[in-house]
Amino acid sequence: MGEFGNVKVFIVYAHPSEDSLTRHVRDSFIAGLEHSGHSYLVSDLYRMNFTTDMSEEEYRREAFYRRDLPVPGDVQAEQDKINASDAIVFIFPLFWSDAPAKMVGWFDRVWTYGFAYGLDTDKNGRTMKQLEKGLVLCVAGNTMEYFHETGILGALEKVMLQDRLFDRVKSKEFVIFDGASRELESRKSRWEDHLARAFKTGVGI
Ligand SMILES: Cc1cc2nc3c(=O)[nH]c(=O)nc-3n(C[C@H](O)[C@H](O)[C@H](O)COP(=O)(O)O)c2cc1C
Repeated sequence: MGEFGNVKVFIVYAHPSEDSLTRHVRDSFIAGLEHSGHSYLVSDLYRMNFTTDMSEEEYRREAFYRRDLPVPGDVQAEQDKINASDAIVFIFPLFWSDAPAKMVGWFDRVWTYGFAYGLDTDKNGRTMKQLEKGLVLCVAGNTMEYFHETGILGALEKVMLQDRLFDRVKSKEFVIFDGASRELESRKSRWEDHLARAFKTGVGI
């Protein structure tokens, strides 16, 4: 995709601490984007204090298919960022075999009826454009050997790619940065490899 020139990338990022591999993965990925001359926008969900609890009115809008009910301003702002982009990238640590609640709640609220699903547009005629690319960059404490043995990560990959991204993006990829636990020697020994891979992923978007 990158060979067609400037790609506008929307990064949805969630990690509670800057003292993390995930933050360095984000920065290396962004360095890769910059290296290729792509532009980007970041929603740093913890720093923004993004609201991830759905209100009762939001619940009613979704569950009763009430397009006439309003979409909150903070949600519309995220949707505008999506529609101004060519690609969307989710960067987060694995928490209890899932994305952090901060990011799961982003999907609860931002994937609204008429925008991200349902046949119609919302009452203002807004709908989500189909993006060229969707990427998931997930930092995990456990190793790939553990994930292969247990099959645990397969569930998250399916949910992220087949349900949350689905045909909202044309091509999609799930990238794992594994063995990052502070209890494992691999956190240090694989650090530079992980960052090089994040950089390359940014270059090649
Ligand atoms: C609340 C919490 C839950 C976690 N759950 C998992 C998990 O289910 N599987 C896993 O492999 N790592 C798990 N981890 C480890 C994180 O993925 C870990 O923070 C990360 O791999 C290390 O990268 P970081 O420096 O970016 O935080 C968990 C960490 C926290 C704080």
